[in-house]
Amino acid sequence: MGGPGKRRAHLVTGFVSSRTIQMHATPSKRPRKVRLKSGKDRSASSTLWLERQLNDPYVARAKREGFRARAAFKLIEIDEKYHLFKSGARVVDLGAAPGGWSQVAAQRIGSAQGRGKVVAVDRLEMAPTPGVEFIRRDFLGPGAGDEIKALLGGSADVVLSDMAANATGHRPTDHLRVMALAEAAADFAREVLAPGGAFLCKVLQGGTEATLLAALKRDFSHVKHVKPAASRPESAELYLLASGFRGTRQPMR
Ligand SMILES: C[S@@+](CC[C@H](N)C(=O)[O-])C[C@H]1O[C@@H](n2cnc3c(N)ncnc32)[C@H](O)[C@@H]1O
Repeated sequence: MGGPGKRRAHLVTGFVSSRTIQMHATPSKRPRKVRLKSGKDRSASSTLWLERQLNDPYVARAKREGFRARAAFKLIEIDEKYHLFKSGARVVDLGAAPGGWSQVAAQRIGSAQGRGKVVAVDRLEMAPTPGVEFIRRDFLGPGAGDEIKALLGGSADVVLSDMAANATGHRPTDHLRVMALAEAAADFAREVLAPGGAFLCKVLQGGTEATLLAALKRDFSHVKHVKPAASRPESAELYLLASGFRGTRQPMR
């Protein structure tokens, strides 16, 4: 990593699978790094986490701009490049808490002004958000999908999933868990999306399951992996973006 004030080129977006495109952006000047000492009141891992938060420009920007999570900037970047949200659209946000993505979706479609709808789901509580209907549910639990459909009141234009299982630190287990959530979200997207709709979902580097990728390629006209700049470079996180839903509605095998 560059030192304070050094100019560095940042990887903005990478696509894997069939093609790889890398874009670079000029970063804004970084303030001096905050360093903390661990001691008897704070473990080394909490100290590292706190240092990362204090030094993260997206955390500071989220605070300034009133977003509940730095994750909001991942969705903003993706929307600015791929134009997911149209005014008046219907959006489902799976794994929504604390609410950064829901805030972005609501702003961009205008749901707080009565245009379109955002239905958000998380197994954790989420503070009320203007223009967002939230239900606290385990998305994998029985009946969650039907409740979301009832709240939507019609087909969706965009299905988002930033769902992440608690990390165990055991890479193969974490990968399997994230992929199980991605497959469930993809299955649901294929049930509720209107033709032309889009699906954006968190996956992990190291391979989107071939069966999931093949099914999405069959049912969407464009499928790509996206790594927004706001996604920490050291994180294995990646997003799968499928757009141009063809309108097939068979459940995935
Ligand atoms: C990375 S956070 C999402 C951050 C969110 N996109 C934002 O901008 O604020 C992942 C969320 O997925 C939720 N999650 C994981 N598994 C879930 C499940 N089975 N059902 C519902 N939510 C789930 C977690 O509770 C967590 O809040």
